[in-house]
Amino acid sequence: MAKISVIGAGNVGATTVQRLAELELGEIVMTDIVEGLPQGKALDLMQAGAIVGYDTAIRGSNDYEDIADSDLVIITAGIARKPGMSREDLISTNTKIINEVSKNIAKYAPSSIVMNVTNPLDIITYTALKATGFEPEKVFGMSGVLDAGRFASFIAEELRCSKKDVEAMVIGGHGDLMVPLPQYTTVSGIPLTELLPEGEITRLVDRTVNGGAEIVGLLKQGSAFYAPSAAVARMAEAVLKDSKRILPASAYLEGEYEQEGIYFGVPVKLGASGVEEILELELSEKQYEILRKSAETIRKVISGLGV
Ligand code: APR
Repeated sequence: MAKISVIGAGNVGATTVQRLAELELGEIVMTDIVEGLPQGKALDLMQAGAIVGYDTAIRGSNDYEDIADSDLVIITAGIARKPGMSREDLISTNTKIINEVSKNIAKYAPSSIVMNVTNPLDIITYTALKATGFEPEKVFGMSGVLDAGRFASFIAEELRCSKKDVEAMVIGGHGDLMVPLPQYTTVSGIPLTELLPEGEITRLVDRTVNGGAEIVGLLKQGSAFYAPSAAVARMAEAVLKDSKRILPASAYLEGEYEQEGIYFGVPVKLGASGVEEILELELSEKQYEILRKSAETIRKVISGLGV
């Protein structure tokens, strides 16, 4: 049976555990630095199994030793945004936390696949790569599935159609410079560009780019977690079932999309070995321009990290 560890038992971590438990993908360990928090939430989630109908074993812990031999480790530890903060404002605190978390992953779960969720996503995923010393295909970040989910939800609302029929694609950095791709977004196979005028699409693209901030502004403390955990569960399932799903993920680029040595969102094939392939799409010159800008910003931050 597979073993999944979720680091961080906060909003994203605990909701992720709930979704994974319901999918019965394997036994789950949830860790946090706060004593009692992961243990209490694990007990609560175990008891929910008797009502919802799942048999997943869930254990809470404050000890890295308990993640030993995990097949998949999901990082959600760190601080979240408050109103007025960008994802970049989280860098110094979250880099320190993820350095420590990653060293322990390398120590106790050296064969695991690592999925990072902590923001700023592309920077922290890079930190996890360096601090674990793992092969790049084994370390990736969750961002595009969430951003594409937001885009798809806005499209379905606008068209008054089922969300189930919308397949959206969003690439680039997980921030103001993400690049929703209307030309690779379809509704039951019909290109979005056939269904909505350009101005309408632009409005939905803008709302997608600011989708996380819109929620932070409403919550006033903390950031989104229902859609993020849904995105994590979809990606975890692809890895644990080796289903080779084509999904956007923050992946380490080695020449793809003109970039080398950084992480940002691209379509990948996701399976038991992690990122098994990166798919290169043709983009418009304007989309490439945003990607270059996004890459430049990420590169600048990385060079200041000293990792
Ligand atoms: N090890 C384990 N857990 C830690 C550590 C650590 N070193 N440091 C902090 N934590 C825990 C906190 O105790 C807290 O329970 O991480 C948890 C974070 O939970 P929340 O504050 O609820 O934040 P959440 O909304 O879950 O977001 C976590 O995911 O989407 C991103 O931007 C978001 O970076 C943020 C992360």
